Amino acid sequence: MRAATIDDLHAMQRCNLLCLPENYQLKYYLYHALAWPALLQVADCDGAIVGYVLAKLDEECKDETRGHITSLSVLRTHRKLGLAATLMRAAHAALEEVYDAADVSLHVRVSNEAALHLYRDVLRYERVGVEKKYYADGEDAYNMRKTFRASEARANVDVETLRTRVEGMRAGSGQKSKRRGAKR
Ligand code: ACO
Repeated sequence: MRAATIDDLHAMQRCNLLCLPENYQLKYYLYHALAWPALLQVADCDGAIVGYVLAKLDEECKDETRGHITSLSVLRTHRKLGLAATLMRAAHAALEEVYDAADVSLHVRVSNEAALHLYRDVLRYERVGVEKKYYADGEDAYNMRKTFRASEARANVDVETLRTRVEGMRAGSGQKSKRRGAKR
């Protein structure tokens, strides 16, 4: 498992063409590689690319850094060896450590049992919605999301900070009213 280089893009495209009906022009892989080089990971088996994950940052979200998995696939000959889970974990690590992303999302066909098992049960993504007729053939997609721990921890710290402030304000106003009471 390693980060992809520009030299891997043709092999990634080939793997995608063999595994999925959602295909992209080479320039789309190149755009990912130039914009987010840490977010392309490949499974390299003696020089042959047998799996890849292609991820990116959500360019529409302006107020928070969010990741998105564009595509994942592993050649049939190399499935059920843990490669997809490892590729996904490498993409998650890069999203958290390099980009400090708050979460990561993806779309998956509602009928894709293998991928759903991986996302829901192994990687702990949550279903956040259904996009009707998302795919060109009319199939619906589940919209899935995983929140990263660092961002959950940040959110908890924020709640704690707020609670402390509110308690501080309450204590302060209590003292004021006691002081006011003393004057009367
Ligand atoms: N049915 C049920 N569970 C499966 C299947 C299957 N056919 N294949 C793998 N799994 C399970 C594994 O048992 C494992 O779970 P476990 O740890 O509980 O045993 C888990 O999924 C992860 O297994 P990996 O070995 O890491 O997965 P693999 O390398 O086989 O790749 C993948 C899974 C990517 C879904 C592969 O089947 C594939 O390339 N499919 C075609 C392309 C595809 O569907 N890609 C995802 C589209 S969605 C997107 O790209 C955002």
